[in-house]
Amino acid sequence: MKKQNELRLGKLPRLVKDYIKHLEQVRSDFVANVSHELRTPLTVIQGYLETLINNKHPDKKTLNKIFTQMYQHSIRMADIIEDLLLLSHLESEDHPSDEKKGIVIADILKTIKLDAKNLSGEKKHRISLRANAYVLMNGSENELRSLFSNLIVNAIKYTPDQGHIHIEWGSDPHGRGIFRVSDTGIGIAKEHLPRVTERFYRVDKARSRERGGTGLGLAIVKHVLLRHAGQLEIESVPDKGSTFTCIFPADRIIHKQ
Ligand SMILES: Nc1ncnc2c1ncn2[C@@H]1O[C@H](COP(=O)(O)OP(=O)(O)O)[C@@H](O)[C@H]1O
Ligand SMILES: [Mg+2]
Repeated sequence: MKKQNELRLGKLPRLVKDYIKHLEQVRSDFVANVSHELRTPLTVIQGYLETLINNKHPDKKTLNKIFTQMYQHSIRMADIIEDLLLLSHLESEDHPSDEKKGIVIADILKTIKLDAKNLSGEKKHRISLRANAYVLMNGSENELRSLFSNLIVNAIKYTPDQGHIHIEWGSDPHGRGIFRVSDTGIGIAKEHLPRVTERFYRVDKARSRERGGTGLGLAIVKHVLLRHAGQLEIESVPDKGSTFTCIFPADRIIHKQ
């Protein structure tokens, strides 16, 4: 099989050959990553099931702990699969966006802010929102909601208790749509910035997992932006905080009178 592939590639120009090899490497790394990410919670669930099989009469407290852990790890697997399905949908050209005209972004952000407050809970972050209700946008409402929500959830997850998260929506002097989330969180060191939107790339694997991250959030953000001809800018200072800015082209923005 490999020989045949090599034979066919042999006739192609060097640049194309290198590109195909690179794509093949990306694909194979991706399959390895997905398998690893799903195997981790599955191994934990299997471990607990073995305990249950071997311990015929566990007490109520032990049972409770085991079921809670198994449930949490099954949720983790479901989250990974859900994000993978969304990503594959976003990457596929056969699935055009469900485009809608004049989406009131300010309304979407109000709801997400409420969810964010719930997620923050005991951590008591200060969450502020300044959204211009007169700036509307054409695009896919579901995809945009997912983009906003991923960035806001990250800001909460990577900001210590009582930190400040500020969300902004409006337009710039060129008429472009600007969505921005700033936090006073742990920040990202410069060397990691070019890679954070890669699938499964995390600065700190343990921290991401502990906070229920799938490592796919920023990859989803990147693809939603691609489908809306938008751009992502990240500014971050370790231990000070991060600002994620999404810029949408002016031809998607409607200025309501
Ligand atoms: N607001 C933020 N502050 C600090 N680090 C962040 C922030 N957002 C993302 N990151 C870093 O980028 C990584 C990738 O983010 P993401 O794709 O959303 O995955 P995760 O599921 O880990 O949140 C995170 O694991 C984290 O290391
Ligand atoms: Mg995330």
